[in-house]
Amino acid sequence: MTPIVALDSVGKSYDGPHGERTVALLAVGFTVAQQEFISLIGPSGCGKSTLLNIIAGLLQPSSGGVSIAGNSPQTALDQRKIGIVFQDAVLLPWKTVVENARFLLMIAGRLDGAAQARVDELLRIVGLAEFRNHYPHQLSGGMRQRLSIARALALDPLLLLMDEPFGALDEFTRHRMNVELLDIWSATRKTVVFVTHNIAEAVFMSDRVIAMSPRPGRVVDDFRVELPRPRTKEVRYTREFNDCVVHLQRLLERDEDTTL
Ligand SMILES: Nc1ncnc2c1ncn2[C@@H]1O[C@H](COP(=O)(O)OP(=O)(O)O)[C@@H](O)[C@H]1O
Ligand SMILES: [Mg+2]
Repeated sequence: MTPIVALDSVGKSYDGPHGERTVALLAVGFTVAQQEFISLIGPSGCGKSTLLNIIAGLLQPSSGGVSIAGNSPQTALDQRKIGIVFQDAVLLPWKTVVENARFLLMIAGRLDGAAQARVDELLRIVGLAEFRNHYPHQLSGGMRQRLSIARALALDPLLLLMDEPFGALDEFTRHRMNVELLDIWSATRKTVVFVTHNIAEAVFMSDRVIAMSPRPGRVVDDFRVELPRPRTKEVRYTREFNDCVVHLQRLLERDEDTTL
């Protein structure tokens, strides 16, 4: 079956203001199958956001190939097959929860009765049904992030890309959001690429964790998390969970040392 994401030796360099080049990514290659949940993990500056933006069709790679379900990322983006959630929920402050959730459908000209029903269902899934007429400033950080997830899913995308979506939340809220996102994922069965620099979060959520080296970002491990699903918060207290975290921590620390 055609993978949802296929990266073939992707490289990316940025040109600085004085002609200097920053090599952000070097020969990154992996595939993501349909309905898989994968995380990209690595230290700050290793190119996670760069790679996510390349997959999203928002940024061109300098070398290598990217395909989304057999098409170019730009085609997939134009066809609204990609949903994106950023670290800070970017919401329209003068629109209510339900208006924000419908917004991308509205500008795509696809807000018919069926789409409205889907938005209502998504608001229920993310626990915001009772807040549909509230405004963003009346929501907590976690609720705003749940709303941006609902908005991204409203387009019924093939692929959901998330760039440190819970990075700004406190640890308790993040743990809760992790469980909630897995519930949403099992209800919608989207393919997800999730960026984080939190090893435990990556292990808890993912089928696979792609670990990246410090800049220039390369894949140092493509690690399959064999923990059973559904994952409840109790999973975090198991020996097996801890073994996965320690494995990735050792790997990332080793890489850190070699760059000193
Ligand atoms: N628009 C840009 N112009 C120049 N350099 C950039 C740009 N965006 C990112 N970089 C550089 O590329 C590297 C990777 O950045 P990024 O993808 O944001 O990493 P991460 O998300 O893992 O923290 C960093 O060294 C960063 O400074
Ligand atoms: Mg980033």
